[in-house]
Amino acid sequence: MNSRAIAKAKRREVSEETARPALLLAWYDRHRRRLPWRPLPGERADPYAVWLSEIMLQQTGVKTVGPYFLKFLARWPDVDALGRASLDDVLRMWAGLGYYSRARNLHACAVAVRRDHGGAFPETEEALRALPGIGPYTASAIAAIAFGRRTMPVDGNIERVVSRLFAVEEPLPQAKPLIQQMAMTLLGPGETNPRARDEKSRAGDAESRAGDSAQALMDLGSSICTPKKPACALCPLNDDCVARARGDQETFPRKAPKKTGALRRGAAFVVTRGDELLVRSRPEKGLLGGMTEVPTSHWLDVQDDKAALQQAPALKGITRWRRKAGVVTHVFTHFPLELVIYAAAVAARTRAPEGMRWVPIATLKDEALPNVMRKVIAHGLSGNV
Ligand code: ADE
Repeated sequence: MNSRAIAKAKRREVSEETARPALLLAWYDRHRRRLPWRPLPGERADPYAVWLSEIMLQQTGVKTVGPYFLKFLARWPDVDALGRASLDDVLRMWAGLGYYSRARNLHACAVAVRRDHGGAFPETEEALRALPGIGPYTASAIAAIAFGRRTMPVDGNIERVVSRLFAVEEPLPQAKPLIQQMAMTLLGPGETNPRARDEKSRAGDAESRAGDSAQALMDLGSSICTPKKPACALCPLNDDCVARARGDQETFPRKAPKKTGALRRGAAFVVTRGDELLVRSRPEKGLLGGMTEVPTSHWLDVQDDKAALQQAPALKGITRWRRKAGVVTHVFTHFPLELVIYAAAVAARTRAPEGMRWVPIATLKDEALPNVMRKVIAHGLSGNV
């Protein structure tokens, strides 16, 4: 390449770098999803609403979150009100959203903001991360959307958009830091030192649109840059997308082959008392933390059915466990699980063993039941022997 060509290429690079954020924001201004927690263009984001929505969106989709978000906001219009509520009321209102440790943390966070921050959310990622239930992603999302900080919360949608745009060959999850860096180049203009900003340049105005840039990428990923059959013709960044130019956009993001652990085995015990089922809550920390389950044996690599049955809960009046035909299998991220199911029915007024409780089968839908337990209960309550 001669020096003129190099200079031209450099100019092109620079102009692409500045053009992408502007194209993205212009697209967002026309096509942004109307979501209940998003302020209208020009309005300032309410940090409480941003935080509440981000916690709900951690493991739940936009459609499901909508009505819950509105219900919470109507009942507790600000963080002070939520911090004064009882945990029981918050858990009741959360029923059906799942992952109940989020509701406990939500309440603990509201209490902490009231007690330690005078009822105003702190503005830095670092201070946000110190609050219950706020991890690196959520801290970044709140800092960008509510406070206009130049930070990019990278979720699965953004990973897909960025890995296609730059044809990132490194597989996930190793590629995360690289994708994070590349995503930062898509941030709109903003100050690196927000302390120096004046009041009006907080979230929402032209100087700091970090939150809009992030949400533009989220919307792009969910509506256009979809996992299958992306609608590239409609994408504001299509001219610039390396994967599209090569025609292999659907193959991104690259993913490392899953390392599945060894098969674990165990038994699950489906005990009914009339129209009630015996359940317990899993420990708050660890796999499926805080979620509801029927009692089970340990889940071990090496375990025969007899050893598993010996771990059955001790209940008065059970003389025989009925072993259901077949097994329930479930694949967790790190291991597959195979459970045999034992069923039993006990007399009215039989007491639940310590740490367990009876719940009406009709209200199981209000419990935080992981998928594996939905399968176990369906199998255990089914008519087969
Ligand atoms: N998922 C997580 N945060 C979101 C947001 N602010 N908008 C849309 N989807 C999201």
